[in-house]
Amino acid sequence: MLAAMTDLLAEAKAGGFAVGSFNVYNLEGALAVVEAAERTRSPAAIQLHSPAVKSGGPPLVALCLAAARGANVPMAVHFDHGSSVGEIEEALAIGFTSIMADGSRLPYAENVEFTKKMTTLAHSKKVAVEGELGRLAGTEGDMVVPESEGSMTDPDQAASFVEQTGVDALAVCIGNSHGRSGTKDRLDFGLLARIRSAVVVPLVLHGASGVSEPSIRRCIDLGVTKFNVNAELRGAYVSALSQGLHSQPPDLAELMRSATVAVRDVVSNKLRIFRSSGRAGGMV
Ligand code: G3H
Ligand code: 13P
Ligand code: ZN
Repeated sequence: MLAAMTDLLAEAKAGGFAVGSFNVYNLEGALAVVEAAERTRSPAAIQLHSPAVKSGGPPLVALCLAAARGANVPMAVHFDHGSSVGEIEEALAIGFTSIMADGSRLPYAENVEFTKKMTTLAHSKKVAVEGELGRLAGTEGDMVVPESEGSMTDPDQAASFVEQTGVDALAVCIGNSHGRSGTKDRLDFGLLARIRSAVVVPLVLHGASGVSEPSIRRCIDLGVTKFNVNAELRGAYVSALSQGLHSQPPDLAELMRSATVAVRDVVSNKLRIFRSSGRAGGMV
């Protein structure tokens, strides 16, 4: 069933677990997330970032919404890293159930202004909004941020950001980064604890690929309620496809299935680590 991200996050926050939000690019990705969520009886979210939306267009979003509606566990469909008014307006028009208004590249005052405007617009359509404060280093599609340009989330600023913008969730920068390269396990848990005490909305950790299980668990204990995962799924997808390409002639249905299964297994393991397995029951 299609679910509101706010409901998933509220349930997770109350229940001491986190919602896994997984980047997909096509049918195989969407099926992989739904199958993993159903097998583990877990709530989860399918998310698309702008390069995926640009390449798949409204049919891809419709496909993800249909996959979520057909699932027997609650699933949200989220637009990840919306960074312009135009693409967020489009995302709201095509039916995403939640959006990220990512103004993190902007100076603080402009980030507040952009995020507040997008939140007012999204809330008028009953769509939840995730904002980001600080600047995440790494590579996410066409968004490349060198390490030297990354910055951490300031807890005091986070409190006023949430209050001024009205966002429903806040993505934090605590040493996490996008993509798989580099060290993914250098998180500042003290900073996370300070942000947690300054801010009441659910916290989100981007760049969850490659972060160790103990670190993920510690993040959940310190208030992270949503994890975004992309690179690990992409890696599993590409290696399944490249292994299958050796058969001649290639059986495309077989290849797509093997990619779905490979991604599904990565997602299932993440849902277990996020402690959301078995938590769909009360929500359906
Ligand atoms: O979709 C794009 C990716 O997040 C890019 O990350 O540096 O791991 O390829 P990457
Ligand atoms: P990773 O590719 O590092 O898992 O990051 C995913 C992400 O943050 C999507 O918004
Ligand atoms: Zn991200």
